[in-house]
Amino acid sequence: MVSKRLFLSAIITCLSVIAVAQSVRTHINFDTDWKFHRGHAADAARDFNYSLETIFSKSGSAWGTPADPAFDDKNWEDVQLPHDWVVGLPFQYVKNNDIDGHGYKPVGGLFPENSIGWYRKSFEMNRADSGNRFVIQLDGVYRDSKVWINGYYVGGNFSGYNGASYDITDFIRFNKTNVLVVRADASQYEGWFYEGAGIYRHVWLNTINNVHVATEGGVYVHTAAKTVTIETKVVNKNIHPANASVYTVITDRSGKKIAQGKEVPFTLAINESRTVKQELNIPAATLWSLENPYLYRAIVIVKSEGRVADSVQVRFGVRTITVDKDKGLFVNGLPVKVKGVCCHQDHAGVGVALPDQLQYYRIGLLKEMGANAYRTSHNPPTPELLDACDSLGMLVLDEPRLLNSGTEYENQFRQLILRDRNHPSVFMWSIGNEEFATQRTDIGKRIAQNQILLQQELDPSRTSTYAANMGNDFKGVNEVIPVRGFNYNLYGVDGYHKDHPNQPVIGTEVASTVTTRSIYVKDTVRAYVPDYDSTYPSWASTAEQWWQLAAKRDWFMGGFAWTGFDYRGEPTPYNWPNINSHFGIMDMCGFPKNVYYYYQAWWTDKDILHIAPHWNWPGKEGQPVLVWINTNADNVELFLNGKSLGKKDMPRNGHLRWTVNYEPGTLEAVAFKNGKKITSKVETTGKAARIILTPSKTTLSADNEDAVVVNVSAVDAQGREVPDAADLIHFSTEGGAVIIGVGNGDPSSHEPDQCVTGAWQRSLFGGKAQVIIRANNKQGAVSFKAEGNGLQTATLTL
Ligand code: GAL
Repeated sequence: MVSKRLFLSAIITCLSVIAVAQSVRTHINFDTDWKFHRGHAADAARDFNYSLETIFSKSGSAWGTPADPAFDDKNWEDVQLPHDWVVGLPFQYVKNNDIDGHGYKPVGGLFPENSIGWYRKSFEMNRADSGNRFVIQLDGVYRDSKVWINGYYVGGNFSGYNGASYDITDFIRFNKTNVLVVRADASQYEGWFYEGAGIYRHVWLNTINNVHVATEGGVYVHTAAKTVTIETKVVNKNIHPANASVYTVITDRSGKKIAQGKEVPFTLAINESRTVKQELNIPAATLWSLENPYLYRAIVIVKSEGRVADSVQVRFGVRTITVDKDKGLFVNGLPVKVKGVCCHQDHAGVGVALPDQLQYYRIGLLKEMGANAYRTSHNPPTPELLDACDSLGMLVLDEPRLLNSGTEYENQFRQLILRDRNHPSVFMWSIGNEEFATQRTDIGKRIAQNQILLQQELDPSRTSTYAANMGNDFKGVNEVIPVRGFNYNLYGVDGYHKDHPNQPVIGTEVASTVTTRSIYVKDTVRAYVPDYDSTYPSWASTAEQWWQLAAKRDWFMGGFAWTGFDYRGEPTPYNWPNINSHFGIMDMCGFPKNVYYYYQAWWTDKDILHIAPHWNWPGKEGQPVLVWINTNADNVELFLNGKSLGKKDMPRNGHLRWTVNYEPGTLEAVAFKNGKKITSKVETTGKAARIILTPSKTTLSADNEDAVVVNVSAVDAQGREVPDAADLIHFSTEGGAVIIGVGNGDPSSHEPDQCVTGAWQRSLFGGKAQVIIRANNKQGAVSFKAEGNGLQTATLTL
């Protein structure tokens, strides 16, 4: 019924001496076999009588609503998590800033019929497991969720970004069907960007012993030099006191034991918890770094009455982070300029419901570009995003949804720190972003002070910043924040540094250049912005402006460009028909725009020589075309059909341009870098003849979770990619996988990302489209087919 991801196997490998009891925790994925139906935020009858039935007056009495275990859901839709019910809704124009900000999707207060989602899942529990504790863990539900098990209300979570866990032990029906029900209410927004709706992250069933490591923040691993400190909070939920002990084993990444702490005995009264601090040395530790993100594992073992009762495995890295007011950021004592990007969490095709593989795919793309840091703007990220950053070597600036020290939001920040503080990738906390009403005020200062103190208490190993769009103002939040974050407004930053020399400075949000991939001429009807680094809103700058400033100043720690990828919503500088942002260095699918090559040229050591635009301009013969070269070579000579158009020296952290009168053929750049010749060309192509499929990998695990990104393009009869192809392509799969979303990066496309007509299809935009395929649980080959009118079909076997 469910796939098991057990900590157990790793523990058994390295601890064969320990007889691991049956009762050691299990962490079972609960993503499959859900039933889903939309309710209604304004019509109780269409919300399955929720708010008409008095279901909160007596314990376990959810009768007459979907929270009742006897409710008949057989006509509800079958869904698998992660699930975003908004991504499949049609785009709809409404003149309203919030709808515009959320990408013209009909969800929120104006659309009560689309803003409630009910989820139900039935599962069996074996009586042999009774005596354990059972905890349901929901990693993220957008939003305002309420949870019932077998008709008993177990709790709710206001946040659409923080996860929540519920102990359901007392309500389990052994050897019978249990029903877990979640109601999500997305009628209120939390942000000003696309947020999706539904159970869009994983759900887990954790089975644990009564004596166990605390569910929230139970293990805190931090390192200084080569000393690893492990703080473990153990809880006794038995109905009698417990003789317990705890110790930790550290393994390297192959699972080999390299250190073991002494077993620390203690007794716990009923309901008592105790935190045990242990220090272990790894003298020859391999450090976690951006180049070699080496991960160790700390396996914490808890015994009760002499038997292993619980075990928790935490991946960690041995690394130091230092922030210097004059020299910026140091990782392991070496200076690191922050070459960062801000990102929202949605992706083409799937909305906010990303398979884990897509997190790795996106972080991989950013690394390839040369980025070394990711800001989780403006909300707690999906846990697997941080796993990807730990594994691939990407620093993270981790941020709660907003700046507020009221009980709800203080708790949200607390939960975020407790959840994420073991990740070596997290190098700093952000306490919030652009709080217009608050940031300059005394209240803002008090709230910030509270959150900073909380952060210092829960994670003294790091410091924090705040994303302030306040120019040089030293008021409110800025008076107390340890690291001054600048959102834009960098014109006076030298003066700020001079006046406040003891406050380190980072660019929490910079650039906001707007570009449309593959479009080089402004189009106010289709709402496209030319793909040159030249258009930006009044508060922002080009990529070149901010990076030239940052690169020259050691005390300027670096910054986070807004944004790594386009995202749904905030369709700046246009509105409808534009439905997603233009801020991305890559588009919604992760296809590079021209500005990508600017960053790649100056953020990596690779030989980069990129010509924009493409060379298909029928009808423009003899007219001037702006040619833009991004390169890190020393000089470039440009040739049109073999004729030199001149040679230019490359300015550091800049770009080169030519104005070329268009003539079909070949535009070639010849560059020299340290005496080495590099060439690159764009050619006028014929029309699309064949479809080309490029998968992110060719094998899939039959685990209902694994996913592959397939990029689709078209080539002409001579095999040259056609950069302006716009053909409609149909997709199908057979065997052990299903398509879960399609996209093409067109910020004004109203084509569905999901399958609404019974068949999957998408037009190419700028010659490209993307399909996301997820494994099911069938073994065997998957065949994927892409067909288009007049095009040679392409197939792929996975
Ligand atoms: C910032 C804001 C971001 C985004 C960006 C667009 O002010 O923090 O969320 O809206 O502007 O440039």
